[in-house]
Amino acid sequence: MKFLIFLGSARDSTPPRPARLGQRVSMMCHRLIADRAHDAQIIDPLDYNMGGVFKPHFAYAEGRAPQTLSDLAEAILAADGYVMVSPEYNHSMSPALAHLLNHFGASRFAWKPSAIVTYSAGQWGGARAAIGMRGFLSELGCLPVSAMSHLPKAQEILDNEGAWNSDSVKWDGYVGRTFHQLEWWAEAAQRQRLEGDTAATGAFNRDPSQRNAP
Ligand SMILES: Cc1cc2nc3c(=O)[nH]c(=O)nc-3n(C[C@H](O)[C@H](O)[C@H](O)COP(=O)(O)O)c2cc1C
Repeated sequence: MKFLIFLGSARDSTPPRPARLGQRVSMMCHRLIADRAHDAQIIDPLDYNMGGVFKPHFAYAEGRAPQTLSDLAEAILAADGYVMVSPEYNHSMSPALAHLLNHFGASRFAWKPSAIVTYSAGQWGGARAAIGMRGFLSELGCLPVSAMSHLPKAQEILDNEGAWNSDSVKWDGYVGRTFHQLEWWAEAAQRQRLEGDTAATGAFNRDPSQRNAP
């Protein structure tokens, strides 16, 4: 199966040091997903020019969106599931991650699961950000699996290459529980996408009011 790992940081600032801890967290996720014999790709917000005016991919006329955004839209559609890696900023999910995801309609992510992996430089590992991510990802259509992974003091537990500095068996097992659930649901959803009727709920294509209560 194919999984996209969204790296939820575009930060280039110190303090707080080190910047872009998300890189090592995403590399760790990539290794664990690849170890499970799946195709894994890290999506880095720095590879997408998202400064200035906000224009979602679905708002462009056919064939007029920037090529990088269109390529990502295709990759999202082709994926079987997603790993959402986010730091905690002010007890919330990463604005860089939310901004990147907001460029795409829910139909691209729908009928597939996601896994929430949060981290922070402090002791809570982004747990407070993770709570809000559940609502966000549910609305996006890629329902988050129940087992979340929270990595406190990520600058101490992971090296620059995304390897654990100690207790690697325990850490692999901890994050592996999240990825086992992701894999299970992704397999189930893949089968059901082939056999089930995903058209019956009808994604809105004109205005959100299309799904209002009568
Ligand atoms: C604007 C901002 C807000 C932050 N808020 C929190 C927070 O609420 N809780 C927390 O544990 N760490 C917080 N931190 C510290 C981050 O956990 C730490 O800087 C981490 O390295 C951020 O991930 P990144 O380096 O991948 O951007 C904050 C950092 C920044 C820059």
